[in-house]
Amino acid sequence: MKIAVMPGSFDPFTKGHEDILKRACELFDFVYVGVLINKNKHCAFSESERVSQINKVIYANNIKNAAAESFCGLLAEFAKEKGACATVRGIRTINDFSAELSMFELNSKLCEQLETVCLFAKTQFLCVSSSAVREIAAFSGDIKDFVPDVIYKEVMERLCKR
Ligand code: PNS
Repeated sequence: MKIAVMPGSFDPFTKGHEDILKRACELFDFVYVGVLINKNKHCAFSESERVSQINKVIYANNIKNAAAESFCGLLAEFAKEKGACATVRGIRTINDFSAELSMFELNSKLCEQLETVCLFAKTQFLCVSSSAVREIAAFSGDIKDFVPDVIYKEVMERLCKR
Protein backbone atom coordinates (compact mmCIF):
# COMPACT_ATOMS: atom_id res chain seq x y z
CA MET A 1 0.00 0.00 0.00
CA LYS A 2 1.49 3.34 -1.09
CA ILE A 3 0.83 5.99 1.53
CA ALA A 4 1.69 9.69 1.22
CA VAL A 5 1.51 12.67 3.52
CA MET A 6 0.55 16.12 2.28
CA PRO A 7 1.80 18.58 4.91
CA GLY A 8 1.09 22.27 5.25
CA SER A 9 -0.27 25.10 7.31
CA PHE A 10 -3.56 25.25 5.36
CA ASP A 11 -4.65 28.50 7.01
CA PRO A 12 -7.11 28.11 5.31
CA PHE A 13 -7.24 25.18 2.84
CA THR A 14 -7.68 26.58 -0.68
CA LYS A 15 -9.03 25.34 -3.99
CA GLY A 16 -5.39 24.94 -5.04
CA HIS A 17 -4.77 22.58 -2.10
CA GLU A 18 -8.01 20.77 -2.95
CA ASP A 19 -6.84 20.17 -6.52
CA ILE A 20 -3.41 18.90 -5.40
CA LEU A 21 -5.08 16.58 -2.87
CA LYS A 22 -7.47 15.13 -5.49
CA ARG A 23 -4.56 14.48 -7.84
CA ALA A 24 -2.43 12.95 -5.05
CA CYS A 25 -5.30 10.61 -4.20
CA GLU A 26 -5.15 9.28 -7.78
CA LEU A 27 -1.44 8.52 -7.37
CA PHE A 28 -1.40 7.01 -3.87
CA ASP A 29 -3.51 4.42 -2.07
CA PHE A 30 -3.96 6.75 0.91
CA VAL A 31 -3.06 10.38 1.61
CA TYR A 32 -2.83 11.88 5.10
CA VAL A 33 -3.18 15.65 4.99
CA GLY A 34 -0.93 16.82 7.83
CA VAL A 35 -1.80 20.14 9.45
CA LEU A 36 1.31 21.50 11.15
CA ILE A 37 0.86 22.60 14.76
CA ASN A 38 3.15 25.61 15.02
CA LYS A 39 2.94 27.28 18.42
CA ASN A 40 5.17 30.15 17.21
CA LYS A 41 2.83 31.17 14.42
CA HIS A 42 -0.49 32.90 14.93
CA CYS A 43 -3.03 31.32 12.63
CA ALA A 44 -6.50 32.54 11.70
CA PHE A 45 -7.88 29.05 12.31
CA SER A 46 -6.98 26.63 15.10
CA GLU A 47 -5.48 23.25 14.18
CA SER A 48 -8.73 21.49 14.98
CA GLU A 49 -10.70 23.95 12.81
CA ARG A 50 -8.30 23.40 9.91
CA VAL A 51 -8.41 19.61 10.29
CA SER A 52 -12.21 19.74 10.40
CA GLN A 53 -12.37 22.01 7.31
CA ILE A 54 -10.10 19.67 5.33
CA ASN A 55 -12.11 16.62 6.37
CA LYS A 56 -15.27 18.43 5.16
CA VAL A 57 -13.58 19.05 1.80
CA ILE A 58 -12.55 15.37 1.60
CA TYR A 59 -16.12 14.27 2.36
CA ALA A 60 -17.67 16.78 -0.09
CA ASN A 61 -15.42 15.46 -2.87
CA ASN A 62 -16.34 11.88 -1.99
CA ILE A 63 -12.64 11.08 -1.57
CA LYS A 64 -12.37 7.73 0.17
CA ASN A 65 -8.60 7.49 0.50
CA ALA A 66 -7.64 10.60 2.45
CA ALA A 67 -7.93 11.98 5.96
CA ALA A 68 -6.68 15.10 7.69
CA GLU A 69 -4.77 15.05 10.96
CA SER A 70 -2.63 17.53 12.82
CA PHE A 71 1.02 16.91 13.62
CA CYS A 72 3.69 18.68 15.59
CA GLY A 73 7.43 18.41 15.19
CA LEU A 74 9.21 17.02 12.19
CA LEU A 75 7.46 16.10 8.98
CA ALA A 76 9.87 13.17 8.58
CA GLU A 77 8.61 11.74 11.90
CA PHE A 78 4.98 12.24 10.93
CA ALA A 79 5.63 10.47 7.61
CA LYS A 80 7.34 7.55 9.42
CA GLU A 81 4.48 7.28 11.91
CA LYS A 82 1.99 7.07 9.02
CA GLY A 83 4.07 4.55 7.06
CA ALA A 84 4.34 7.04 4.19
CA CYS A 85 6.82 6.60 1.37
CA ALA A 86 6.37 10.14 0.07
CA THR A 87 5.43 13.67 0.90
CA VAL A 88 3.29 15.56 -1.61
CA ARG A 89 3.65 19.29 -2.23
CA GLY A 90 2.13 21.63 -4.77
CA ILE A 91 4.34 24.00 -6.77
CA ARG A 92 3.11 27.26 -8.30
CA THR A 93 6.20 29.37 -8.84
CA ILE A 94 9.97 29.29 -9.02
CA ASN A 95 10.01 30.46 -5.39
CA ASP A 96 7.95 27.43 -4.39
CA PHE A 97 10.39 25.28 -6.33
CA SER A 98 13.42 26.63 -4.44
CA ALA A 99 11.70 26.20 -1.09
CA GLU A 100 10.63 22.66 -1.93
CA LEU A 101 14.12 21.73 -3.07
CA SER A 102 15.58 22.85 0.28
CA MET A 103 12.84 21.03 2.16
CA PHE A 104 13.52 17.89 0.12
CA GLU A 105 17.24 18.06 1.00
CA LEU A 106 16.49 18.46 4.71
CA ASN A 107 13.83 15.77 4.80
CA SER A 108 16.12 13.37 2.93
CA LYS A 109 18.76 13.85 5.60
CA LEU A 110 16.20 13.14 8.31
CA CYS A 111 14.63 10.18 6.52
CA GLU A 112 16.59 8.86 3.55
CA GLN A 113 13.73 6.78 2.11
CA LEU A 114 11.20 9.61 2.13
CA GLU A 115 10.49 10.79 -1.42
CA THR A 116 9.06 14.21 -2.26
CA VAL A 117 6.48 14.30 -5.02
CA CYS A 118 5.83 17.80 -6.33
CA LEU A 119 2.71 18.42 -8.38
CA PHE A 120 2.51 21.57 -10.48
CA ALA A 121 -0.47 23.79 -9.79
CA LYS A 122 -3.00 24.10 -12.59
CA THR A 123 -3.12 27.52 -14.28
CA GLN A 124 -6.28 28.66 -12.51
CA PHE A 125 -4.61 28.12 -9.12
CA LEU A 126 -1.23 29.71 -9.83
CA CYS A 127 -2.06 32.84 -7.84
CA VAL A 128 -4.08 31.15 -5.09
CA SER A 129 -2.49 31.06 -1.65
CA SER A 130 -3.79 30.97 1.92
CA SER A 131 -2.23 34.37 2.61
CA ALA A 132 -3.96 35.93 -0.43
CA VAL A 133 -7.26 34.43 0.72
CA ARG A 134 -6.79 35.92 4.21
CA GLU A 135 -5.94 39.33 2.81
CA ILE A 136 -8.74 39.50 0.23
CA ALA A 137 -11.36 38.33 2.74
CA ALA A 138 -10.13 40.79 5.38
CA PHE A 139 -11.04 43.61 2.97
CA SER A 140 -14.39 41.97 2.16
CA GLY A 141 -13.26 40.78 -1.26
CA ASP A 142 -14.89 37.68 -2.65
CA ILE A 143 -12.89 34.50 -2.13
CA LYS A 144 -15.42 32.15 -3.76
CA ASP A 145 -13.02 31.19 -6.54
CA PHE A 146 -10.22 30.45 -4.09
CA VAL A 147 -11.78 28.45 -1.26
CA PRO A 148 -13.63 25.10 -1.51
CA ASP A 149 -17.41 25.67 -1.58
CA VAL A 150 -18.07 23.53 1.48
CA ILE A 151 -15.94 25.73 3.78
CA TYR A 152 -16.50 29.07 2.03
CA LYS A 153 -19.06 30.42 4.52
CA GLU A 154 -17.12 29.64 7.69
CA VAL A 155 -13.85 30.93 6.21
CA MET A 156 -15.50 34.16 5.07
CA GLU A 157 -17.22 34.66 8.44
CA ARG A 158 -13.94 34.36 10.30
CA LEU A 159 -11.75 36.37 7.96
CA CYS A 160 -14.04 39.18 6.83
CA LYS A 161 -13.57 41.97 9.35
CA ARG A 162 -16.23 44.32 8.02
O1 PNS B 1 2.01 25.34 4.05
P1 PNS B 1 3.45 25.56 4.39
O2 PNS B 1 3.57 26.59 5.49
O3 PNS B 1 4.25 25.91 3.18
O4 PNS B 1 4.02 24.18 4.95
C1 PNS B 1 5.34 24.06 5.42
C2 PNS B 1 5.57 22.69 6.10
C3 PNS B 1 4.51 22.45 7.17
C4 PNS B 1 5.47 21.61 5.07
C5 PNS B 1 7.00 22.69 6.71
O5 PNS B 1 7.18 23.86 7.45
C6 PNS B 1 7.26 21.48 7.58
O6 PNS B 1 7.33 20.38 7.11
N1 PNS B 1 7.38 21.72 8.90
C7 PNS B 1 7.60 20.67 9.88
C8 PNS B 1 8.98 20.80 10.53
C9 PNS B 1 10.06 20.10 9.72
O7 PNS B 1 9.97 18.93 9.45
N2 PNS B 1 11.09 20.86 9.32
C10 PNS B 1 12.22 20.34 8.59
C11 PNS B 1 11.98 20.22 7.10
S1 PNS B 1 11.53 21.75 6.34
